[in-house]
Amino acid sequence: MDRFIIDGGTPLRGDVRISGSKNAALPILIATLLTDESCVIENVPTRLRDIRLTFRVLEAIGKRVDVSGSRVVVHANKPLKTRAPYDLVKQMRASVLVAGPLLSRFGWVRVPIPGGCAIGLRPIDIHIQGFQDLGARRVLDQGDLILDSPLRPGRVRFKSPSVGATENLMMAAAALEGTTTIVNAAREPEIEDLAGFLTDMGAKVTGAGGSTIVVRGARRLKGVSHRVIPDRIETGTFMLVAAATGGRVRLLGVEPAQVHALSVKMRAAGAVVREGQGQIVVSMKGRPVPVAMATAPYPGFPTDLQAPWMAWMSLAQGRSRIKETVFENRFMHAAELGRMGARIAVSGDTGVVQGVPALSGAPIMASDLRAGAALLVAALAAHGRTSVARVYHIDRGYERVEIKLRALGARIKRVKT
Ligand code: UD1
Repeated sequence: MDRFIIDGGTPLRGDVRISGSKNAALPILIATLLTDESCVIENVPTRLRDIRLTFRVLEAIGKRVDVSGSRVVVHANKPLKTRAPYDLVKQMRASVLVAGPLLSRFGWVRVPIPGGCAIGLRPIDIHIQGFQDLGARRVLDQGDLILDSPLRPGRVRFKSPSVGATENLMMAAAALEGTTTIVNAAREPEIEDLAGFLTDMGAKVTGAGGSTIVVRGARRLKGVSHRVIPDRIETGTFMLVAAATGGRVRLLGVEPAQVHALSVKMRAAGAVVREGQGQIVVSMKGRPVPVAMATAPYPGFPTDLQAPWMAWMSLAQGRSRIKETVFENRFMHAAELGRMGARIAVSGDTGVVQGVPALSGAPIMASDLRAGAALLVAALAAHGRTSVARVYHIDRGYERVEIKLRALGARIKRVKT
């Protein structure tokens, strides 16, 4: 298992190019199951563990995946299977997204139910309810969910706006001839990207980015070429790293509007955030002013940036509150930050952070992907040496992170243990 050794305290300076969005690429890759024609997908963060697992899921189901740099071509190969293997689903919850396209095309699908993870129980009841609204019958067998009965277009109403459920149902609806309306849909930019992909394939998706999405599906969908949007969470993480180290970083290949909620909070805390065409420049001097923050579905402050935000607020000139409203157990990083001298008290869905003048290096451990990002922010800002264990969590979502950070002047190396 790899670890990072980080000697903190160097202000980061220079340019960094942000990769394509992991969370947009995942459903788009899976949506290729809707067609037998080839699809070309550009700007895919192909080095990420979750993206590589998605290739394996597609191959297990019957596709061929050719990768060259950040360009991926998905071809038909064998007749598609209508089940996803447990050993892959248990490694990556997003594999449940194969249910939508396969059920819609073949009228039957078997997917293992993913377990909980470090940040909460993460049930899939909203996905299942959506399929039931379109006529699916559900059966549980040996921990697997079997959905049968051909779907028919109709009206789906989510009890809360789940990102994954919205994507799953959009993909299902795309292959159903007729109109399906999804009410209380999630509004994240990744959903708009998927909507564009499905529309190019021959379905007509309107309303994505709002809370009611209308999908006019078609029985045969075609292969298309598509470029994935930039990763707004990687963008936000680099913005926070730049500020926490008191540096100046220009982020290239980004979409500033997609990190608006973060930019507003960072400016309130004293950072200079300048937005340009496809780029953002962040600079900061000294400690931040404490700013309260609550996570919320898009366009609110993303839950995936809560942990790195907390790392920055650990250095604030006073006390701030952080409320996590999306996941029930997403403060695992607080204790690790505490090992570096942060003063954080967590109670229920709220963390109270009493800023300290400096953090100090320590041996620490990533518990999940975004907790890992928080530890990077803290370690790069801290005095002294930090050793971050369980880097494989960070590798799920940040492409070549140590190489990008080193190019900005960070002293970070990966060691194999
Ligand atoms: C996606 C993102 C993840 C991000 C999250 C929220 C991907 C691959 N992952 O995850 O990085 O943190 O959106 O922005 O895109 N819920 C239920 N029942 C369900 C589904 C969800 O109760 O059937 C709950 C979840 O436990 C969670 C909340 O709804 O508390 C939001 O989950 P959801 O929007 O579905 O997140 P994901 O799609 O899993």
